[in-house]
Amino acid sequence: MSIEVVSPARSLQGSLTVPGDKSISHRYAMLAGLAEGTTRLSNFSTGADPASSLACMEALGALVKTSGEGLARMIEVTGVAGSFPQPAAALDCGNSGSTMRMLAGLIAPHPHTFSLVGDHSLTLRPMERIRKPLAQMGGRLELHEGHAPITIHGGPLTAIDFDTPIPSAQVKTAVLFAGLQATGTTSLSESVRTRDHSEHALRAFGATLSRTGDRISIPGQQKLKAIDATVPGDISSAAFFLCAALLFPDSNLILDSIGMNPTRTALLDVLGLLGAKFKVLNVEEHHGEMIGTIQVNVAPGGLKGADITGALSAMLIDELPVLAAIAPYTRDGMRIRDAKELRVKESDRIALVAKNLTAMGAIFTEFEDGLDIPGNQQLHGAKIDSGTDHRIAMAFSIAALRATGETEIHGADAAAISFPEFFTHLRTLALH
Ligand code: S3P
Repeated sequence: MSIEVVSPARSLQGSLTVPGDKSISHRYAMLAGLAEGTTRLSNFSTGADPASSLACMEALGALVKTSGEGLARMIEVTGVAGSFPQPAAALDCGNSGSTMRMLAGLIAPHPHTFSLVGDHSLTLRPMERIRKPLAQMGGRLELHEGHAPITIHGGPLTAIDFDTPIPSAQVKTAVLFAGLQATGTTSLSESVRTRDHSEHALRAFGATLSRTGDRISIPGQQKLKAIDATVPGDISSAAFFLCAALLFPDSNLILDSIGMNPTRTALLDVLGLLGAKFKVLNVEEHHGEMIGTIQVNVAPGGLKGADITGALSAMLIDELPVLAAIAPYTRDGMRIRDAKELRVKESDRIALVAKNLTAMGAIFTEFEDGLDIPGNQQLHGAKIDSGTDHRIAMAFSIAALRATGETEIHGADAAAISFPEFFTHLRTLALH
């Protein structure tokens, strides 16, 4: 387990290009694997999670070729033109819940036996949420008390009308990917509009689907065609540096080529309420995804507070750990509720945020579904336990920038799950 030491900083300055969006990379990898032809992807996520999706596609018969490095890195995926063969071994999803849940929907319509496995954290995460709709479609999935490893006895599926009981883009995607290949038109509705990358990606690969109000419909038995695409920068990775910038009055941060899909930008709204000033320098659209350059500064008067509840919590679920980590430094603190899902992410993120806030000397109240964190607190350096969770490792590296004394991030290497370059960027952008 690696340890990174983070020292207090006085400002955050510079420009940053974050690696490609993790969510979009998973979807492009999977749909490219199923499609006919060779998909060429630039700015594909450098994280370990999307690499798990690519490895699973290879195990399912797709050809994956990586060339170039840095900005010139290119992933080519030649798909199986609609028919996955029987894989020779289990499909290893590593730490990635997205891979396991979305892949289950993608492969369930194929007439083979698939075994989906993952690391210890992944075997603790709830999988019943995908088994249920796929079973309604006629899929046979065996779980172990609601968890991975999963055995799928694949075969033809039939369309369903499904109302998602929990807001989850992964569950929505599993149903859409299965519906794409089922007989009939599958429709589903969501109570909270979750990230819609799957809808954009499916259209990009040539599928037809429609949305009326909160109901999405996808006709079955559709074929996909390869695409050329650039993955937008990951706003959930940029979130750490956006929050870091806000901790210092004279910060100036420019984020290049960042994904600005409206279903992902709730963070910018909350940071705006806290006191961030944004300048959007340009916005373009690629395959339905918005990509822009933004500059962020802090409004005079410092950071206010925020109340994050209801649908907003669901839309900010990946950003809540870093928001909680900077909450003590705001004037009015943060109240986070309706975020029980945080307990079943790569770790119990409410418990780990609580543990690490305590280590840094913060006072707060923990609830089953969130935290109340008063503002105006000065934290001190401490030993942080990442719990091998990438977002916890990065969130507390940001809290460390405004603490007194040095902070040790234990299990810092977890950052590589979504953002291997995180600590290198932190060293470049944080002025001490
Ligand atoms: C994701 C959806 C969210 C999110 C995860 C990525 C996706 O999970 O937390 O990091 O790519 O669809 P849920 O669908 O479980 O909410």
